[in-house]
Amino acid sequence: MTASAMVAEFDDVAGWTADAVERLGERYAIPAACRGSANPAALAWLAEACELRAGSVLLDVGAGVGGPAAWAAERFGVRPVLLEPMPAACRAAARLFGLPVVSADGARIPLRPGSVDAAWCLGVLDTVRDKAAVLREIHRVLRPGASLGLLVVVARDPDVPAAPEGNSFPTPRRLAELLDGAGFDLVERIERPGDAPLSWTRRVERVAAAVAGRHRADRAHALAVRQSESFVRLFASGQISMELVHATGRPAGRPSEQSRVEDR
Ligand SMILES: C[S@@+](CC[C@H](N)C(=O)[O-])C[C@H]1O[C@@H](n2cnc3c(N)ncnc32)[C@H](O)[C@@H]1O
Repeated sequence: MTASAMVAEFDDVAGWTADAVERLGERYAIPAACRGSANPAALAWLAEACELRAGSVLLDVGAGVGGPAAWAAERFGVRPVLLEPMPAACRAAARLFGLPVVSADGARIPLRPGSVDAAWCLGVLDTVRDKAAVLREIHRVLRPGASLGLLVVVARDPDVPAAPEGNSFPTPRRLAELLDGAGFDLVERIERPGDAPLSWTRRVERVAAAVAGRHRADRAHALAVRQSESFVRLFASGQISMELVHATGRPAGRPSEQSRVEDR
């Protein structure tokens, strides 16, 4: 992931977001640091689907500035471990939430096999070229049978004209194949539930305005705005949409549901 627009969006803007939250106050931190479009309803669905419980280790792959993981720690008492390749985003997450952050790529997770109780990967897969490698790595570090929660931008058709720089969107069918190939059973998938409450949206907008106020003239800011405008256009035209997915890791050696159906 080297596209300059993505570095702008996921690194420069991540650092500026943490600066703005520090100026505005702590209650802005979680909404502003949910940068993969997860809202409280989506996070609650994922947390319940994955049966998060106090004390369990939740690995957040592509954690960005750490909003979703911090939300899960605050509401469900999990012990999050954040994994994120962008240096300024790692520093921003550590500054805002004091959570442990591993600076690494999702295709090479520096954790032992079976060492985490649940994993999230929210708004990340469409930014990753080798989606299968990331899913395989998550499967390796998850406890056998444990849950994976995904928020994924999916495409209606395999080719999306004018996709934002560095993004490639799987179709729902391709996503199911990728999960199966990586050793996951798909439990459930839904459209992202409803809108965020106004008080959440207003905090997100206040932080975005504070960032724009200081950095509007910066090239990285213009690139990030262009990325988000092209997402808005694609969502509005129905070419892409957002899904929440709950899957569980198959223990090694157990055939997939799909192959068991085909064997019958
Ligand atoms: C849209 S942001 C979502 C951030 C966070 N998950 C959230 O919901 O707030 C996508 C994140 O994926 C990260 N990312 C991109 N490629 C990655 C990879 N190969 N491995 C892990 N993370 C990656 C980016 O750096 C960025 O922080």
